[in-house]
Amino acid sequence: MPGVPVSLSDAPLSSVSSAIAGTPGARRINVADKRIINGKTDVNQLVPFKYKWAWEKYLATCANHWMPQEVNMSRDIALWKDPNGLTEDERRIVKRNLGFFVTADSLAANNIVLGTYRHITAPECRQFLLRQAFEEAIHTHAYQYIVESLGLDESEIFNAYNEVQSIRDKDEFLIPFIEAIMDPAFKTGTPQDDQTLLKSLIVFACLMEGLFFYVGFTQILALGRQNKMTGAAEQYQYILRDESMHCNFGIDLINAIKLENPMLWTPEFKAEIKALFIKAVELEYRYAEDTMPRGVLGLNASMFKGYLRYIANRRATQIGLEPMFPNEENPFPWMSEMIDLKKERNFFETRVIEYQSGGALSWD
Ligand SMILES: [Fe+2]
Ligand SMILES: [Fe+2]
Repeated sequence: MPGVPVSLSDAPLSSVSSAIAGTPGARRINVADKRIINGKTDVNQLVPFKYKWAWEKYLATCANHWMPQEVNMSRDIALWKDPNGLTEDERRIVKRNLGFFVTADSLAANNIVLGTYRHITAPECRQFLLRQAFEEAIHTHAYQYIVESLGLDESEIFNAYNEVQSIRDKDEFLIPFIEAIMDPAFKTGTPQDDQTLLKSLIVFACLMEGLFFYVGFTQILALGRQNKMTGAAEQYQYILRDESMHCNFGIDLINAIKLENPMLWTPEFKAEIKALFIKAVELEYRYAEDTMPRGVLGLNASMFKGYLRYIANRRATQIGLEPMFPNEENPFPWMSEMIDLKKERNFFETRVIEYQSGGALSWD
């Protein structure tokens, strides 16, 4: 049949969405041939493993499984309904926060399912991405569950990314990097296209999941530390744990692609990434100012300037860039403890189920 590949080795397996079934007589997989991008091996054969770190992270995320409706929201509901329960500034934080997150995790899911997944040719990495996509659905579910529990105006919260400038600006920064790799005509295989994918992975892991979530997480967890909105804070704590795993997986993926394709990491490319980091810190800081026009909960916007620079430095060094803002310290050391749920799981003294069923997790 003209135009139909006769064997998998003839098929354009780097964009493997067309590889549905095997081919009789095809060669067995040689681990050394596997590649994170532009690989030619059959993506339907999970083993033999080459990228064990990806499989281990997949197992760790499964061990962290949780569902939103298992968290008791009754104290949050009572507090939200009590006219003296929260200040106006605290209510603004909760609403702005949900306004960003109710759609952010859908963007993250779209990016994985419609973008990243088809360009990654290592099946153990794809396995993690499938789990990650489900976790993004759980996060959207968690935010929806909080909105519903508190009886908030759903259309106001869910449309916030069209109505609130500081949220819109963050999303407008991200969307071109999703669209670039979602474009059906886009495929990797040239240095320029591989850089487009790598840039999108860096923006998502380091700047979206690794930076744009952190003002919001810190604010809600600060409420929880003051014994307010403890159900929401508990959900955010689970989400933070998932997101730091997504971020760490993304960083491992980026570094593995760099290792296999060193030619992509040019001085021009690094300069472009650095400019994106600086822009992202600026946008997240503006979001901090918008959500906290005054000091609240012992926090104020200017404390976040240092925090965001500290996080940006950390993300930069994790992918092999120089820190961009030397000598920044973490003003919220308690946030690092929040990521380790095993140690802090009774922090809010609400009902917490022991979801962790696997072996010890190591947090980088
Ligand atoms: Fe998420
Ligand atoms: Fe995520």
